[in-house]
Parts: sequence; C-alpha cells; structure tokens
Amino acid sequence: MSADDRPMPRELLITHASQLVTLAGPSRPRVGAETRELGIIQDGALLARDGVIVAVGATSTVAPLAAIGAVQIDASNLVVMPGFVDAHTHPVFAGTREDEYEMRAAGMSYQQIAEAGGGIRSTVRKTRAASEDELLELGKIRARRLLEHGTTTVEAKSGYGLTVEDELKILRVIRRLNDETALELIPTFLGAHEIPNEYRDRRADYIQLVVEEMLPRVAEERLARYCDVFCESHVFNVDESRRVLTRAKLLGMGIRLHAEQLSLSGGASLAAELGATSADHLEWVDQAGIEALQQAGVIAILLPGAVFNLGLNRYAPARSMIEAGLPIALATDFNPGSSPTPSMQMILSIACTQMRMTPAEAVTSATINPACSLGVQARLGSLETDKQADIVVHDCSDYRQIPYLFGVNHAVVVIKSGDVVVDKRVEGSNQR
Ligand code: NIG
Ligand code: FE
Repeated sequence: MSADDRPMPRELLITHASQLVTLAGPSRPRVGAETRELGIIQDGALLARDGVIVAVGATSTVAPLAAIGAVQIDASNLVVMPGFVDAHTHPVFAGTREDEYEMRAAGMSYQQIAEAGGGIRSTVRKTRAASEDELLELGKIRARRLLEHGTTTVEAKSGYGLTVEDELKILRVIRRLNDETALELIPTFLGAHEIPNEYRDRRADYIQLVVEEMLPRVAEERLARYCDVFCESHVFNVDESRRVLTRAKLLGMGIRLHAEQLSLSGGASLAAELGATSADHLEWVDQAGIEALQQAGVIAILLPGAVFNLGLNRYAPARSMIEAGLPIALATDFNPGSSPTPSMQMILSIACTQMRMTPAEAVTSATINPACSLGVQARLGSLETDKQADIVVHDCSDYRQIPYLFGVNHAVVVIKSGDVVVDKRVEGSNQR
C-alpha cells in the first residue's frame, strides 16, 4: 500500500480541560496515600490516534500535534477523566423488584424476603422464562445507561439462571453485549449465587452440579474469565465456596468472592487462602480479615450502594482498609435487588459521605484500582500514553463536584476506544 492509499488515522483531540484527571502512576493498585494522587493537569489536553492515547499534557503542547481533521472537543470549564471501571455488576436479568423495595420500607429485611422465596430466586424465575434474545435487548438498554453515566468497562456476572443451560444463556448474552455494544464486559460465572428452589432440600447436589457440570461447560466454551460465589451463612458456606472456587481455579479462572456482606462468615480468609483476585462487599470484615487480604494481595471491592439501598447502616471499613495498605475499588453491584443503580457517580457520593473516603480516593477506586482487579490495568483505568482512549467529560469544573453534587449525572461526553459513544452537550450551555 502506498502512503497515499493508507487510511487517515482516526484522531481525537480534547483541549482546555479545567482538570484533566490522568491517574498517571504505577501500573498496579494504588494503596495508602497513593490513592489520593490523581495526577491532575490544569488546562489539560489529550490526543488519541486510532483509539490509543498518544499525548497527554498542557493544551499548549498537545494541541499542535493533532492532524487537520481530528475530532475536537473543547473541554473548557469541564473535567476530563478515565471512563469508570465498574468491577462488580449483575447486568443480565429479567424483571424488576420494586415490590421488595416497598416491603423493606415496611420493615422486612433482605434475608427475610429471600427466605420467603423472593430476592435472587424471584429474579431467577423471570430470567429462566426469558429467551437469549429478550435478555440481550434488556441488556442493551442497561449497557446504554451505564455508558451514559460514564462507565466504559464492567465486570458482568451470571447467576440468575442456576441451571446449566440458563447460566450458559446469560454468559452468552454477556458475550454478545460485549460484541454488539460500546460497553466492554468482562464475564464472571456466578452459578453459586443462590440454591434454586428445586435443590432446596438437597443442596449438596446443587454444588455438585455447579462443580461437575456448569464449570467445565463454562470453561470449555470460554465464557468466563472469573468465578464468583455468594459466600454467606444463608447461601454458600466457606467449605461449599471453597469447593466451587478450587475447581474454577483448576480450570484456569480467576477468583472473586461475595464475602462478609451480611455477617462475618469467613469469606475474607477464604479469599486470602485461595489467592482470590478480589473480595467484594466486606461490610462485616474484621481487622484480621483486612490484614489477611492485604497480605495475600487481594483487592477489596466495596459496594456501598447495596448498603444504602437495603436501608442498612453498616458500611465497609474503608478507612481502616486504606490505613492497612489494602487496595480498594468501588463498584455499583448493579442488580435488580440490592443495588439497582448504574451510576458510579452515585457510588462515589455514598463512599464519601458514608465511608469517609476522600473524593480523590473514590476516583482512584473507580478507575485504576478496579482496572487492576480485572487484569486490564495495562490498557485501562488511567489517561496515559499508549493506553486505550476510554474517556469521560464531566460537566463540572472540579472533580470533587462529581460526588458533592449528588444525584446528578455529570457525564456529558463518553468516549470508548477513541470513539464518541455518548454526546449530550448542548450548544452554548454548560448545563449546570
Ligand atoms: O451482590 N450478594 C449477592 N448478590 C447481589 C444481590 C442480588 C439480588 O438481590 O438480586 C449482591 O448484593
Ligand atoms: Fe453482587
């Protein structure tokens, strides 16, 4: 091909950001005081070519590098940040559970509703009845909503099928959402999410099904990068969880774990013992658990949206974790029961007010640290040369306004791999 026939590179130039929040730094989870270092550039600019960042710096130095014809975004008075990486979601399901929301307002607990046949099992009934195409259509709407709120990558769990075929159906939907939408989805198998109705009085048989049939099929079809278990006294105990996760490890999957959400039940030490990539929730973890996770290099994924939405008041001890040098990520836990929000911005607000995280700690925990928990930190989670151009332009002039002005969607332009996938700018207005 001669030089003249070569296609023009696809260029994107963002200039004059009031704050370009780069998160530049080591390609590993940020801990302790590092969590508060955001690498902010004032009057910042960024140039991407064919979806990859080629320059980051002051507008005066970066702008002249762009070719004529580059897509240009003037980010004057706006904040530019990496796309949010939401490292814990359950996005493929049918139906909603506002009835349970009302029941909780009247005083019933999440566990009482689950014991009465509601909760996860209610969503399982509706999800089993839905076809792959129906779930795909629902998933596309949710993928759109996540992107609109500034999330460009999610970890996505199965777990509302609980039969071999229904779990595979959900994982195939996750794969298709990854292929057919701008949202990037990293799949996790969560067959051990609940004991389905037909196995209530023979739970060992269900665990056998997960270990002997579901996991090998999932591995064979390469449908999941991780395996997760809901380790909790009323769901899967530590020994049952260990059985599932040990098999998953043998099949080459990474390990994630719903741990210590509603009681102190040993999930954190199990995560440490198995060398899990992440332990998620951790509202009830104790100091020994924090230290075990830190020693084992596990990332703590905190889901304060679930605590908030369940009307509880025991949040994960984020401050003790940061002091202990345990890396933290924040996630929505997006699901129809405990946390139906797609908004990482809302999670940042709850993290700052209820767990006393600083806005800077919250931003790190929503970008580079969750990228590390998904093994994609070489490509995602910060705005640095050679990384993928996954970028959000927020309609505010200081990043601290994102959690502070809560209940507002600040994301106005969302870019995935150098392509503008959401653009809500209104001519001549800053929309504040
Ligand atoms: O992370 N803990 C288990 N799974 C979800 C809840 C799912 C549901 O209620 O549908 C969670 O909170
Ligand atoms: Fe969850």
